[in-house]
Amino acid sequence: MNNEKILNKAIANSNNVAISITSFYNSAVQFQQLLMFYDCAIKQVSTKLDILKSEFTSKNKRNPICSVSNRIKEPISILEKTQRLNINFSIDNIITQINDIAGIRVICPFIDDVYFINNFINNQEDIDVVETKDYILNPKKSGYRSLHLIVKVSVCFSDKIRKIPVEIQIRTIAMDFWACLEHQIHYKKDFKMPKNIDIELKEIAQEIANTDNRMLKLAKSIINFED
Ligand code: GTP
Ligand code: MG
Repeated sequence: MNNEKILNKAIANSNNVAISITSFYNSAVQFQQLLMFYDCAIKQVSTKLDILKSEFTSKNKRNPICSVSNRIKEPISILEKTQRLNINFSIDNIITQINDIAGIRVICPFIDDVYFINNFINNQEDIDVVETKDYILNPKKSGYRSLHLIVKVSVCFSDKIRKIPVEIQIRTIAMDFWACLEHQIHYKKDFKMPKNIDIELKEIAQEIANTDNRMLKLAKSIINFED
């Protein structure tokens, strides 16, 4: 759905003909504070991954992480998701029902590194893993492969500790290569993709997965992943 359609749908569903400046201001301040919470949760997880990198570098060990990126969902995408979930666009609903406003993507060299990072995240005292979707073991219908975690990060603020949800996607360079290119091909969301293209994309995903497994096998004959 394009942005105009999302906004028009929101306006059509809204009972508020007009809102006061005060209520607009209060909502805007609350929304801004909400985004700050997600930003802090991202910083906390990113710092942990940074520390891991420093530790491996100092020990002269191979790094299980190639790169880490993050994003906070755009307000229009949050609005679109509330429509998809059929819930009102309210601060309460956003906090309790949407778990992927803060997103972190970790790209690893090898498949075993993905599971190493998964263990690392699971062992953190200030992180609760509330959901794991293993699209490597069970790829999506599209051919998409990745390990998705929904975690709650305990962040200390001046008044209290808040548990902030973050979606962590962990995948190999090969899985990321397919996902990025497939995303570009599917860029025009309103366009119905011909079936043969979807079939071919799925076949390519399988070829890439085979190569990923061959590279892992090869690496394992040289590198000790348990070290
Ligand atoms: P969403 O409401 O879209 O978040 O669905 P969900 O909660 O079922 O999420 P899921 O964990 O299955 O996947 C959501 C995210 O994974 C997307 O935002 C993409 O980043 C990525 N993803 C999932 N499926 C695909 C796919 O087929 N192709 C690509 N390129 N990315 C995908
Ligand atoms: Mg999601």
